[in-house]
Amino acid sequence: MSAPHPDRYAVAGNPVEHSQSPFIHAAFARQTGQVLDYGRLLCPLDAFADTLRHFAADDSAGPVRGCNVTVPFKFEAFALAARHTPRATLAQAANTLRFDTEGWLADNTDGVGLVRDIERNAGVPLAGQRVLLIGAGGAAAGALGPLLAAAPAVLVVANRTVAKAQALVERHRGAAGSVELSACAPAGCGRDFGVVVNATATSLQGADIPVDARVLGPGALALDMMYGPAAQGFIGWAQAHGARGRDGLGMLVEQAAEAFALWRGVMPDTAPVLAALRERLAAASR
Ligand code: ATR
Repeated sequence: MSAPHPDRYAVAGNPVEHSQSPFIHAAFARQTGQVLDYGRLLCPLDAFADTLRHFAADDSAGPVRGCNVTVPFKFEAFALAARHTPRATLAQAANTLRFDTEGWLADNTDGVGLVRDIERNAGVPLAGQRVLLIGAGGAAAGALGPLLAAAPAVLVVANRTVAKAQALVERHRGAAGSVELSACAPAGCGRDFGVVVNATATSLQGADIPVDARVLGPGALALDMMYGPAAQGFIGWAQAHGARGRDGLGMLVEQAAEAFALWRGVMPDTAPVLAALRERLAAASR
């Protein structure tokens, strides 16, 4: 008798060919003894929903259990789901779907992945910190709720289009607790933050750093959600001004671990996978 088909997953986006998610999830599966297949699903920009429904319904190679969602479909993925976790509802965006028979469940694991990377991998506690979040798009929306839950003293959301930062902040007002939460333009967002997170598309575009270096307090952690060559400009800028630069690779692995746990009920150990991924990307760039 042949072996049963494995459960199937994919990362859905456009583009997806450079996504590291298949590598990460294959490593998690090996480590935890889970049998699954994780691929890439390129979705035409005008046909995300149809492509995803077709993928979810095609069990010819094994039952399709869920997917990750990347740019530019995180808002659409949220809207497609029948049920939402509280953190996805706060973000109004989803990076993880689970195809339950009673309806698709949308989750957003980006923010918890960011917080784990900052606190556990980079060793910087967020409680009591002054935190600057730059950007107010989908990436920032996923990050804000979990950042607030980590109880910084101050959290400023700075965005080129200030109205978007204000709207994001207002939506999160009820989740702010005692955090001093505000929105502003990048030019006037204050100084001496302990943690600065770049959630804008500037690194991807090779555009200027959107804030003044005075935002960096002495020894601050400055994290760009990008990784690879795209993140190098921001990291170099941070280091040139006495801060610790960090890319988004740790966040990527941590958000993937949280998605894996939602699907499979087991939390993988991220440290060896992050180390292997750094080595893999370094080898690819040599
Ligand atoms: P994502 O889902 O990756 O967050 P997005 O929703 O398009 O993508 O958001 C992109 C973010 O990068 C926004 O905060 C955007 O600012 P605006 O809201 O003003 O558009 C920000 N951004 C993009 N290009 C930028 C630039 N050249 N300078 C400053 N901010 C920029």
